[in-house]
Amino acid sequence: MPAPVIAVDPLFVDAGDAERLVELAHRFGRYRIYGEAEHVDLDVGRGLLPRQDSVQHFLRTGGARGPGADPSTLAARTSYFREEYAYDGREQIGGVESFLHNPGLIEAAAALHDRPIVEPAIAFANLMVPGQELAVHTDVPEFRGASRKNVPEWLLVVMHHSGLFDAWRLPIATGISYFQDSDGGALRYWPDGPDADPVVLPTRANTGVVLDTDSVFHGVDPVALGTDAPKLAAGSTLAAEPDGRWALRRPDGELLGRYDWDELRFSVSWKAYCFADEAERDAWRDHSDDLTTDVIIERLVGDLVRRELTSPDVARDRDLGLLFIDTYVRYPAA
Ligand SMILES: [Fe+2]
Repeated sequence: MPAPVIAVDPLFVDAGDAERLVELAHRFGRYRIYGEAEHVDLDVGRGLLPRQDSVQHFLRTGGARGPGADPSTLAARTSYFREEYAYDGREQIGGVESFLHNPGLIEAAAALHDRPIVEPAIAFANLMVPGQELAVHTDVPEFRGASRKNVPEWLLVVMHHSGLFDAWRLPIATGISYFQDSDGGALRYWPDGPDADPVVLPTRANTGVVLDTDSVFHGVDPVALGTDAPKLAAGSTLAAEPDGRWALRRPDGELLGRYDWDELRFSVSWKAYCFADEAERDAWRDHSDDLTTDVIIERLVGDLVRRELTSPDVARDRDLGLLFIDTYVRYPAA
């Protein structure tokens, strides 16, 4: 089933608003590697990585440059930097409001899911240095009663790909927006499903694109292809310096690289909940129809039993988590 992808061009009618967002990116200052925060673990899939599905696909395929690199090189290539500018509809840094409530993004989100009530929730920045890429994935979806606060990210992804929890899913629209023209770093996405050819969208300043990234596989091509990604350590940071350049440092302060703004790939992602009517929104707000982790696991096991892939008394352990991923999350072959 083809999924709509809606261009927002220009993103801001007044180009000065886009420039102010670049100023905000500098003012925010310091960016940490994404994925190093605490995460939820259950007996099912205990010890798996938050995005076990995406990581194992990336390690198997080698990403955009194909197989051959060792795991630490692969990890450095896809360890990009992320920070939140807004969360739960609230500013984390002054000046992000005009982006969070951008009329073009809101209009596109309503059209995407054919739902008129659009509640912008999150804005976060993604920064990548030359040599980095973003492994192919779908985003972490959300359901009534099940979010990354109480369910592992890989399990939320499994839930959506299984199609067994559609009645609880929160339709989320994602806007990806750009504020500079990048050397490489194009968005690669599969709007017609994992078996069809991908579409490649170069980044252009003051443009955006709105799509259902929970359903559409996507990744980012290497930035400055031909450059090796720096050897990152856990806890490395990318920070704006007083002279306007950017410094990449290990946690002990050792300098790994210095970059001009235009050498970096910068995007800001925007996520909004989309509701058909107030009853749908209220069911989400008042938790009157929430899933629990027990219901989630038993429903998935029941489906695997029907498919004759396991038995009802299968151990609720790490291997069951891997079986869920292998059964339901089908990545693009390319
Ligand atoms: Fe994504």
